[in-house]
Amino acid sequence: TYVIAEPCVDVMDRSCIEECPVDCIYEGARMLYIHPDECVDCGACEPVCPVEAIYYEDNLPEQWSAYTKINTEFFDSHGSPGGAARLGPTGADHPTVTALPIDPL
Ligand code: F3S
Ligand code: F3S
Repeated sequence: TYVIAEPCVDVMDRSCIEECPVDCIYEGARMLYIHPDECVDCGACEPVCPVEAIYYEDNLPEQWSAYTKINTEFFDSHGSPGGAARLGPTGADHPTVTALPIDPL
């Protein structure tokens, strides 16, 4: 699967959503999350992210290794909705992301 990492936090550019053929990129409050079972590994989202937040799981930089689990665990409370448009913005984040400091910029 592909994974969204920390650079997305408080940026949420959303260009990735338009590229995804299976609508498996879901909106939290401070970042977006890729559903690990719904992602078909097409790779279309990766190059369009302006802050390079998206990686194939095997290529995830070490400092963001926790994000594989963060993306997966985000869906513990949502299951497999089968489409982000259907679910809509969730307004919530994984607790690790909620706890991140807010950049004063
Ligand atoms: Fe985030 Fe990049 Fe998508 S900033 S919303 S992963 S285009
Ligand atoms: Fe997955 Fe990104 Fe494609 S989330 S399905 S690799 S657009």
